[in-house]
Amino acid sequence: MKKISVLFVCLGNICRSPAAEAIFNSLLEKKGLTDCFIVDSAGTGSWHIGKKADSRMRIAAERRDINILSRARQITSKDFDEFNHILAMDDSNFRNIKDLKNRTTSTDLASIKKIQDFRSVFNEQEVPDPYFGGDDGFDYVLDILEDSVNGFLESIS
Ligand code: 4NP
Repeated sequence: MKKISVLFVCLGNICRSPAAEAIFNSLLEKKGLTDCFIVDSAGTGSWHIGKKADSRMRIAAERRDINILSRARQITSKDFDEFNHILAMDDSNFRNIKDLKNRTTSTDLASIKKIQDFRSVFNEQEVPDPYFGGDDGFDYVLDILEDSVNGFLESIS
């Protein structure tokens, strides 16, 4: 069976999208669905390429038994050919992904949406960027993502 591929995208690929990727992987593991999916994350920006996720996010996630293992990379036009679902964390990411797609490819494989389209408990229409804020912001991002990432999996199951 062909695997379903999912790419989570934020700005730096060191806070929100690595957390979304790890939460999704953890959910897939719990449901015995790991082998059905290819999961990755990327940033629209290039500043943090090759770096581990922000330690504040890794520590907050570890408290929930979620391990963030990814290294940052930047989204490329090849991703539009390789991923079935591209999920942006906020409106700015969404616009930047669409702009890149329009500039670089005409392929229509990838569905490009915002992860908060799949929210049910939280009302946030974007995942707030926690990078310049306090430690609470990282926990709040994880709360929001646990809700919407679960909603996304339900929407495709
Ligand atoms: P992320 O957070 O997009 O959730 O990874 C950010 C990380 C770094 C920066 C901005 C947002 N930065 O400006 O370096």
